[in-house]
Formats: sequence, C-alpha cells, structure tokens
Amino acid sequence: MSEHPLPDICTHIALSEPQIAERVAELGAEISRDFAGSQVVLVTVLKGGLFFLADLCREVTVDVTLDFMAVAPYAHGTPGRVRVTKDLDEDVSGRNIILVEDVVDTALTVNYVLSLLAARKPEQLKVCTLLDKPARRIAEIAIDYTGFTMTEDFLVGYGLDVRSRHRNLPYIAGVRPEVVLT
Ligand code: IMP
Ligand code: MG
Repeated sequence: MSEHPLPDICTHIALSEPQIAERVAELGAEISRDFAGSQVVLVTVLKGGLFFLADLCREVTVDVTLDFMAVAPYAHGTPGRVRVTKDLDEDVSGRNIILVEDVVDTALTVNYVLSLLAARKPEQLKVCTLLDKPARRIAEIAIDYTGFTMTEDFLVGYGLDVRSRHRNLPYIAGVRPEVVLT
C-alpha cells in the first residue's frame, strides 16, 4: 500500500484508514438489515461522495444500483442554491433512495438535493453521510445514517477536497484554519 504523507496544510489525522473502513462496514450492515429483501438506489453527488459510495456499496448486501448527480453553485447566487449539472440516469419514482454524502455541514446542499429527489416521488428517501459537522448547521435535516460526528472546522481526504486537492488521501485529516480562509 502507498504511504500518503500528511500534507503541509494539515494538522493531524482525524480518522485513519482502518477507522473509516470499520465504520463503513457497520453502516453497510445497518443498511443491509434495514432494506433486507428490497432494492435500493444509492445516489451520490459528485465528486466528494464517490469514495465513500464505492466502499459503502461493497458492504451493502441487498440489491443495489448506483446513480450520480453533480451540482454547481451559482456564481453570485444565494449560498446553498445550486444548479444541477448532471442529473440522475435512472427513473427513481417508487424506488428506495439513499442519498450518500461525504459531509453534511450547513446542510444547505443536501437539503436542496433532497428536495429535487423528493419531487420524483420515491418510495423512501434516506440520507447516509460519512461525516456530520453539526456546528455550522443552517438547514434542518434528518440524517438516517451517520458515520462520524466531527468538531474540526475543515477536513480533507477520502473524497473531501480543499480547492479540488487531496481527495485521494486514504485517511481524513484536519486542515490548518489559515489555509481555509486564504
Ligand atoms: P453544506 O455546507 O452542508 O451544504 O456542504 C456543502 C459542501 O461543502 C459539501 O458537500 C462539501 O463539498 C463541502 N464541505 C463542507 N465541509 C467540508 C470539509 O470539511 N471539507 C471539505 N469540503 C467540505
Ligand atoms: Mg467540495
């Protein structure tokens, strides 16, 4: 396995690779129990959720399909308002959807994506996030499956980026506050 040195912008490893793997397996088992005998569409928003989705889906033993959305913020728009740049491929009406997220912070993004998915009239619509950062929450949302609740301001790795970088770290690390501000 490749050794990934801690990037200079980081202060510490917040979640190690084995810690993440263990929790992802637990979440997969929980989802498999809750949806035993059913079909599930795991939906993620590119690109951050991709890494978690890839590991999670291999821990889910029920019949799953994968689908993807991409969103982008408006250049001068209201925070949290996003436009869809890639829509789902599948028709999800009447299906069980689990929205798989890397991180829920203000929850504005997930709240908006949930409203888009709800409009398609799924049978069930659940949220599974690897990380929950409740400190900066603005939108009230119910999270059905949470990996870890975090207190760090900003994290990178395992899909999370700082200006598109460091998504490929196999662990999750805390970022120096001055890096996030500048
Ligand atoms: P929201 O604030 O819950 O709407 O989160 C919006 C997006 O901000 C997330 O999907 C991530 O792409 C990004 N984000 C929030 N917190 C972090 C973090 O700690 N590291 C990297 N990206 C983050
Ligand atoms: Mg991001």
